[in-house]
Amino acid sequence: MIRQIVLRGKKVSLGILLKEDIPKVWLWYNDRDIRRFLSSPDALFYFEDEMEWYERVRREKERHRVFGILENRSDGLVGILGLHGIDFKNGYAELGYFLAKEFWGKGYATEAVSLALTYAFEWINLRKVIARVYAPNKASIRVLEKNGFILVGRLREHVYVPGHGFVDVLFYERFRNI
Ligand SMILES: CC(C)(COP(=O)(O)OP(=O)(O)OC[C@H]1O[C@@H](n2cnc3c(N)ncnc32)[C@H](O)[C@@H]1OP(=O)(O)O)[C@@H](O)C(=O)NCCC(=O)NCCS
Repeated sequence: MIRQIVLRGKKVSLGILLKEDIPKVWLWYNDRDIRRFLSSPDALFYFEDEMEWYERVRREKERHRVFGILENRSDGLVGILGLHGIDFKNGYAELGYFLAKEFWGKGYATEAVSLALTYAFEWINLRKVIARVYAPNKASIRVLEKNGFILVGRLREHVYVPGHGFVDVLFYERFRNI
């Protein structure tokens, strides 16, 4: 199927997630190096769970805008990014993202988040995007800070992350006008 690109960047683009992407997404969701810093690090996902997730975000587009992160060089899917819990009345959403390990450290997440902010602020007219990140997740903190997110709160020793013990959950926010 032809991939629809929604927003194009220099290294990566945000595109429509296809049903045929789900086998890859399923592998990545079960990769502990990725999972460790997402919600429920211990969770196990069956293929059918991934299909249900795909159908849910497809059905609930008003609340969730999920994109595939595409590498421009290869046109291949390298990760997922979503604006979740979109609240049009109050004008905010929560950002989440991950990349397959082999694509880490190339600036891809930084650019994908920048594109997501363009989408959030210019295309759906939100005021603010928030993100939650575990304190040991230095790469993600850097991605957020490079995109102008500000640390606004912290739940101390709030979540158990294997290999790190109980970690702080940091709350970041980025207003449209900073
Ligand atoms: C977090 C994640 C998306 C980052 O993706 P990425 O494409 O590698 O990020 P980028 O290359 O755009 O930027 C990473 C930045 O973090 C820095 N970084 C990486 N590891 C670091 C570490 N251990 N300590 C400090 N900085 C670190 C990099 O140097 C880079 O900063 P720079 O451009 O100033 O050099 C990726 O590691 C991932 O998918 N992790 C698992 C899932 C996850 O954590 N998702 C986010 C949940 S909040």
